Amino acid sequence: MKQIKPCKSVLVAVWVVSVLVFAIASGLATGIASSEAVPAPVPDDFVGNESCQACHEEEFQNFQGTPHANVAHSRFKTDMSRGCESCHGPAKTHVLCETRKKEARDSGQAEPECESTLAGSFRGKSPKDVSDNCLKCHAGMGEEHINYRRGDHWRNDIGCTDCHDPHGMPRRPDRLGPQSLVGSASRHKPDWGSEVMLRDSEPQLCLDCHNEMRAQFTLPFRHRVLEGAVNCSDCHNPHGGFESRQTRLATGADAACVKCHTDKQGPFTFEHAPLKLEGCAACHAPHGSANPRMLRRANVYQLCIECHTDVGNIGVGQPGTPSFHNLAQEKWRNCTTCHVQIHGSQSHPLYFR
Ligand code: HEC
Ligand code: HEC
Ligand code: HEC
Ligand code: HEC
Ligand code: HEC
Ligand code: HEC
Ligand code: HEC
Ligand code: HEC
Ligand code: HEC
Ligand code: HEC
Repeated sequence: MKQIKPCKSVLVAVWVVSVLVFAIASGLATGIASSEAVPAPVPDDFVGNESCQACHEEEFQNFQGTPHANVAHSRFKTDMSRGCESCHGPAKTHVLCETRKKEARDSGQAEPECESTLAGSFRGKSPKDVSDNCLKCHAGMGEEHINYRRGDHWRNDIGCTDCHDPHGMPRRPDRLGPQSLVGSASRHKPDWGSEVMLRDSEPQLCLDCHNEMRAQFTLPFRHRVLEGAVNCSDCHNPHGGFESRQTRLATGADAACVKCHTDKQGPFTFEHAPLKLEGCAACHAPHGSANPRMLRRANVYQLCIECHTDVGNIGVGQPGTPSFHNLAQEKWRNCTTCHVQIHGSQSHPLYFR
């Protein structure tokens, strides 16, 4: 009986100590598992990019060329001034542990057991989770990314890192980025691709997944996308938005098209209604077509009479083709020889001039 007492107090002491140890250990564990759950890490927990170089040379080198290297930006809730650790979280424990392991390996000893997990680890994370990390800064960057979660890419589990390398691509002067020959319409310039950390240049980047579109860009009349004169992203917003097919139609019908074809924009005194209502794609195949002017129909008149049915005005908005237009004769079939300004006119209601 008597001997038990001191023993009991030892047990209590052990229990108190182990509770304390457990509390500290679990506190550390949550600190490592989720940066949100605990107070902001002390500055000491951040070790800086140079500490990573020895073991992650490739990531380190590529990162130097990206816009992410050393930017502290007030536009964002969070800035990028922590470099690697802006995304991967404070890495002190990782570095200490891996350094000990490496030293042990180098001297032929058994690797020590230690905590190496990073707060910002993307291992096994879904494309949406990885994208959320990017969006915590970039969703504030304006219309371009704020709608990412509305686009087809998001809905189909395509994440930022399917197109962008989070560490950037090695700069290669020979790997010219997409170049546009249409001047100010596109800001793309040589090596733009690696500047915005794209995994590949356009159009190849897009065709890797949308290869079925390639054939349309080899048709006789086409936008010269494969030749590099026009980019997929001139017309599409790869980041998604409100428009169907992720087209860049931010303002008014077919803003994407008129940014290059400015003469078709108007406003015209006499608008041809479908341009404003259905948009350019009512008459043109935007990628390419077997028909001249990339028209949807082989003959212009076939296109016109789809809307202007020659049964006369049936009261559905647009007048029918007048009956004196004898469609059996070649002369009348070339509609645009008389209705010249088919996209709209400043001076004639029937677009004669
Ligand atoms: C002493 C060598 C060493 C240093 C220094 C080091 N790492 Fe690592 N790192 C490793 C090793 C080894 C692995 C692979 C661990 C594994 O497979 O479990 C790794 C894996 C990683 C991973 C992938 C694992 C995951 O969970 O996502 C990331 C991210 C990473 N390190 C980031 C960093 C960053 C950031 C730094 C600098 C702050 C850094 N590392 C410094 C050796 C190191
Ligand atoms: C913009 C956020 C971001 C920054 C900054 C960043 N990483 Fe990463 N890193 C990621 C993501 C996301 C992944 C997951 C891999 C993927 O999706 O391609 C990753 C993966 C890794 C991996 C694992 C690679 C593999 O193949 O398993 C290592 C190692 C790594 N990063 C190291 C670094 C180092 C070193 C730096 C700084 C030079 C750094 N990262 C900067 C986002 C970032
Ligand atoms: C901690 C905040 C932060 C995170 C997280 C972040 N970025 Fe950034 N990103 C920035 C800042 C800051 C810039 C520089 C913007 C500037 O100078 O206009 C930038 C620039 C970029 C640029 C180049 C923009 C340009 O106009 O040249 C790309 C592309 C980019 N980030 C992609 C990503 C991707 C992909 C991820 C996720 C893997 C990501 N970013 C995660 C803050 C962040
Ligand atoms: C389907 C491919 C694709 C996906 C997915 C994608 N991007 Fe991009 N991103 C591009 C292309 C192509 C460009 C360059 C052309 C352009 O400006 O649209 C670009 C440009 C950028 C730029 C610089 C241009 C700008 O307007 O500031 C940033 C920043 C950026 N992306 C961030 C992101 C982020 C963050 C995600 C995820 C939420 C993401 N991207 C997902 C293809 C993609
Ligand atoms: C990693 C694969 C991948 C890459 C790279 C990719 N996409 Fe997509 N894209 C998809 C998937 C998957 C869908 C949804 C399924 C579908 O409609 O094909 C989609 C949907 C789209 C849509 C909407 C299609 C519709 O029917 O509404 C457009 C437009 C589009 N992508 C354009 C682009 C452009 C432009 C690029 C290059 C900047 C690009 N994509 C790069 C996988 C990708
Ligand atoms: C000149 C502008 C333009 C260019 C360049 C362009 N697209 Fe499109 N694309 C459109 C328009 C407009 C639509 C919608 C067509 C419709 O609604 O009938 C579309 C539709 C699509 C669709 C939806 C499927 C379909 O057939 O309707 C996909 C996918 C697509 N484009 C991918 C691409 C890819 C990949 C590239 C580059 C290789 C590209 N686009 C280049 C304007 C363009
Ligand atoms: C980035 C600039 C750009 C955008 C955006 C653009 N185009 Fe074009 N388009 C061109 C160029 C350049 C040509 C000249 C064709 C060539 O020889 O490459 C052209 C040619 C055409 C032609 C054929 C002209 C002819 O004389 O045969 C039509 C029709 C056309 N585009 C319609 C459209 C439509 C519709 C859209 C929107 C879906 C659009 N374009 C968007 C640059 C653009
Ligand atoms: C109602 C049908 C229709 C619509 C809608 C339409 N087009 Fe056209 N477009 C035509 C026809 C028809 C021609 C051929 C004219 C000819 O044969 O002289 C043409 C020719 C063109 C050409 C080459 C000749 C030129 O005038 O430069 C371009 C470029 C063009 N369209 C761009 C556009 C753009 C951009 C839009 C949208 C803003 C658009 N079109 C909307 C019917 C249409
Ligand atoms: C997608 C349907 C559509 C197509 C295709 C189309 N139009 Fe039209 N067109 C209309 C509509 C709608 C009006 C407006 C009628 C109104 O304002 O009352 C109109 C107006 C006109 C007018 C003026 C009629 C008036 O009395 O104000 C002429 C002329 C005309 N179109 C000629 C053509 C020709 C020529 C073509 C073929 C190159 C053509 N249209 C293709 C829908 C179409
Ligand atoms: C030889 C010149 C010429 C050709 C070719 C021509 N038109 Fe006309 N079109 C006219 C004239 C002239 C008028 C005006 C009739 C009037 O003022 O009553 C007209 C009027 C119209 C109108 C307006 C009818 C209304 O009630 O307001 C439409 C629609 C039209 N044409 C469609 C077409 C279509 C479609 C084609 C091709 C199949 C075509 N035109 C070919 C000369 C032509």
